[in-house]
Amino acid sequence: MTWHPVADLAEFAESPVLAREAGGVALALYRVEGTVYATQAHCTHAGVSLAGGEVVEGYIECPAHYGLFEIATGRAQGGPVCRDLAIYPVRIDGARVWVEVAPDGA
Ligand code: FES
Repeated sequence: MTWHPVADLAEFAESPVLAREAGGVALALYRVEGTVYATQAHCTHAGVSLAGGEVVEGYIECPAHYGLFEIATGRAQGGPVCRDLAIYPVRIDGARVWVEVAPDGA
């Protein structure tokens, strides 16, 4: 597993969800009540980018068909989604956000 710098905390001032890439993995980053989380970037229903979705009380709502995922766990919670999101470890170093992904992109 390898840690990658993916964002600065200040970037969340523009949006609570950011689209990023690390080690060949497309990610969605979220800031929820001061904690940063990372999931796979695309919805498990039809592959739409979650970065265009709405963060509501710890959940990301997919912009396409309103599928809901719990951000902290990636768990599919409602709407047409039944497969969970992959989640990735996050570390904060000063103002820099790091995400850990496997070298093969897993
Ligand atoms: S693509 Fe996300 S709910 Fe359909």
